[in-house]
Amino acid sequence: MAKKPGRSGGARRSGPSGRDLSVRVRTARRRKTSSTRWLQRQLNDPYVAAARREGYRSRAAYKLLQLDERFRFLKPGLTAVDLGAAPGGWTQVLIEALGPSGRVLAVDLVEVESLGGAEVMQADVSDPANAGRIRGALDGGADLVLSDMAPTTTGHRATDHLRIVALVEDALALAMDLLRPGGCFVAKVWQGGTEDRLLAAMKRHFTSVRHAKPPASRADSAEMYVVATGYRGGEANSRQTRGAD
Ligand SMILES: C[S@@+](CC[C@H](N)C(=O)[O-])C[C@H]1O[C@@H](n2cnc3c(N)ncnc32)[C@H](O)[C@@H]1O
Repeated sequence: MAKKPGRSGGARRSGPSGRDLSVRVRTARRRKTSSTRWLQRQLNDPYVAAARREGYRSRAAYKLLQLDERFRFLKPGLTAVDLGAAPGGWTQVLIEALGPSGRVLAVDLVEVESLGGAEVMQADVSDPANAGRIRGALDGGADLVLSDMAPTTTGHRATDHLRIVALVEDALALAMDLLRPGGCFVAKVWQGGTEDRLLAAMKRHFTSVRHAKPPASRADSAEMYVVATGYRGGEANSRQTRGAD
């Protein structure tokens, strides 16, 4: 059984600690240079080591811990939906932070291996038919909608950009469908990628919208996060952000 994450020493920690012992990886004859580079980066990544040590399923867990350290949106008793949850690092953080009185629904295209303390659902968030399934599973809405979803990239910049924007739009549409007033939306976006239209929609529907790049997010990645708090709720909120905003 996997050990419980993040409990060592009581307080939650959002960064790796200890010595940094770099590992050099030799290029094997049958391994591509890019794979060697990936392997070397993994072996030398302090967050990969910390995740292994602390029982998190992914280094991504630290990104959520660091975002929460700055914005303080995780509180015991809340109901959260974790979109793009596999393999489950964010879900583990949520289970721990929301506690036994909270509720966590983890959704992904691929199967999320079960985790005590969370419900899991295999579903494509971009398929409108699944919004009803997710809403049905929650029965009463959510306080937090989080999306760490990332599309499969094609290498074609314009196509990848469109896919990324579409995923954020899908997550926001779902958030506006599920969130209770005062709720919070956190989503992975890309630098220069939160489209003006999308940002305008968020600003209209939330009292505060801020961007952040947590230290655990790799410096060479264009990834960053948007944290929108204080969902206004009510009639003003159309279920459709796409097209309407
Ligand atoms: C970076 S990983 C998430 C890591 C996760 N937050 C963690 O802490 O372990 C991105 C995930 O988004 C999922 N994803 C991408 N498109 C999706 C979609 N349309 N619906 C649901 N999940 C999606 C992928 O399957 C992948 O598991």
